[in-house]
Amino acid sequence: MEKKTFYITTPIYYPSADLHIGHTYCTVMADAMARFKRATGYDVRFLTGTDEHGQKIQKVAAENGVTPQEYVDDVVGRIIRLWDTMEISYDDFIRTTQDRHVKRVQAIFEKMYEKGDIYKGEYEGLYCTPCESFWTEVQAVDGKCPDCGRPVEKASEEAYFFRLSRYQDKLIDLLEKNPEFLQPEARRNEMLSFLRQGLDDLCISRSSFDWGIRVPSDPKHVIYVWLDALSNYITALGYPDEQDGLFEKYWPADVHLVGKEIVRFHSIIWPAMLMSLDLPLPKKVLGHGWILLEGGKMSKSRGNVVDPVKLIERYGIDALKYFLLREYAFGQDGLYTNEVMLNRLNYDLANDLGNLVSRTVAMIEKYDGGVVPQPSEAGEPDEDLIAMAVTTQSRVEVCMDRFSFNLALEEIWKLIRRTNKYIDETEPWVLAKDESRKPRLDTVMHHLAESIRIISILIHPFIHNTSEKIREQLGIPQEPVNWEDTKRFDMMAGKTVRRGAPIFPRLDIEKEIAELEEMTAASMAAAKAKAEKDAGKAAESGGQKEQSDGKPEITIDDFEKVDLRVGKILSCQKHPKADRLLVSQVRIGDEVRQIVSGVASHYSPEEMTGRNVIVVANLKPIRLRGEESKGMILFADNGERLEFVTTDAADGNRVK
Ligand code: MSP
Repeated sequence: MEKKTFYITTPIYYPSADLHIGHTYCTVMADAMARFKRATGYDVRFLTGTDEHGQKIQKVAAENGVTPQEYVDDVVGRIIRLWDTMEISYDDFIRTTQDRHVKRVQAIFEKMYEKGDIYKGEYEGLYCTPCESFWTEVQAVDGKCPDCGRPVEKASEEAYFFRLSRYQDKLIDLLEKNPEFLQPEARRNEMLSFLRQGLDDLCISRSSFDWGIRVPSDPKHVIYVWLDALSNYITALGYPDEQDGLFEKYWPADVHLVGKEIVRFHSIIWPAMLMSLDLPLPKKVLGHGWILLEGGKMSKSRGNVVDPVKLIERYGIDALKYFLLREYAFGQDGLYTNEVMLNRLNYDLANDLGNLVSRTVAMIEKYDGGVVPQPSEAGEPDEDLIAMAVTTQSRVEVCMDRFSFNLALEEIWKLIRRTNKYIDETEPWVLAKDESRKPRLDTVMHHLAESIRIISILIHPFIHNTSEKIREQLGIPQEPVNWEDTKRFDMMAGKTVRRGAPIFPRLDIEKEIAELEEMTAASMAAAKAKAEKDAGKAAESGGQKEQSDGKPEITIDDFEKVDLRVGKILSCQKHPKADRLLVSQVRIGDEVRQIVSGVASHYSPEEMTGRNVIVVANLKPIRLRGEESKGMILFADNGERLEFVTTDAADGNRVK
């Protein structure tokens, strides 16, 4: 019998900069779903790729002194390496600069034109350059882009338009009649109210820049980046010209996984394009939430991005994947902190799973010479364990049908915890002391081995390397992982187990946090230095006026934002973990707060104590190698030494 197909896609990523942990989130979910569907008998096609055209890419390439193609080749190379390192099991990687895509997008444009859905006109609107989106007056919020919040500018140009308005009713119908089409529910309601406000035709070409796919019959226009990008889901399958059957086999997609801010493009523009092409619509668009930092969004320019490569180097691929899939609920935003991530690794992976495997293998080696015995004497908790072990797979399937990766893992961890509890209940070390209890001990060892075997299959779609390490220790490395075997409890007797290295070593959380914070502080300092250098360059090239130290001119309003206060250093100590840093307790009026300063090579704690200094009091607090710092003490820098900026004024006084 032919297998059922399952076509899953991620968004194609902008190669304007290296990807951060937020981008890997979607790809890791798509990978887990693709592996799960393969395991449960589907013929899966998993597509990802890069969205390489547009004004923004053209601009960064120019800033870097290279051509757009050179620029994207470089970044895309690193993106592909990242997915390879993470062992992402995609079947195809599409780049929008590939010939196969370019010629097919041109054909799609022509088809829509012939259908009468594309016409030429004059576009006037509010344009957001970073998002490459035009907005109407109604959509722009206080003159700012509703997606990214940056200012929009009035722009007008001759352009081609897609008659999106023609599809308004059909789109409303689609969303109203198919609640499954767009999830979560809140997004569907949002899109419906957007549609009911009325749709304008969509401007789909640009002539103000040229890094894009040309309109075949009018090459001074390039095709709007979203029309180009969205088409990837079908051009990668060969639409419209390739006859190798991929398109017929896999289209329509079963699911497009996308971030919440691009749901609009996928649930309005994309279906309308497909309606225009008389093609079936994708079965589902799923909008996931964002991974945020305590200060809000990750931003390359602030240098506060969490770099997946660094986390993988330190903790391994499976640690990162497990954390992303377990921590966040699909559709909701979630906060990333090093502490939450490290706790997950220690508690779930090292303690619950790692200990279960190492304890069990060690006991089978000790009590049975490493060979899993046949079960013989049954005991009280067996039934409960077996019933749970052989049915967990069905609960995982239900969760995966809803894209609830975190709940699917929770179901598996319930079994892991149940199995750990079984060890406590049966007390094998007590049974081992009494020869007459050997039949019972055999059963316990057998059941533990079976339960861990089932766990090794259940975790395979999510953390396949760990699964393979466990199977190695269970003595079943060559046997293919077969999802159906999760329903059996009779496969381990006679297998020879072999102890290996701990699958997840326990981490010293305090130490790890300090080191990760230091890495972030270094990358934020580098980003700040780069921003200052770029601002200096912009000033030289006639942008903002340059001041004596290369910083840009600011307005009185900018200055007003800084809360400068007189502070008195009451006491000061060396930082316990960093030679460069001093930790001071500073009184500012009624409040005493801790401030960390990088001045240990200039002053001793004794020289700091008792000074009246100027403090930036409203600087966002940060932790520097584990110590909180709430503010910054100002120093004058003569190039060699930092001098105190002191005052006789009383602490708490405002400096203005
Ligand atoms: N190129 C478009 C997509 C075109 S699809 C036809 C694009 N690219 S992107 O690189 O900016 O974003 C790709 C995806 O990464 C989006 O789905 C976006 O939501 C996701 N993420 C970017 N930062 C994120 C987080 N911090 N957290 C989770 N996902 C986030 O948009």
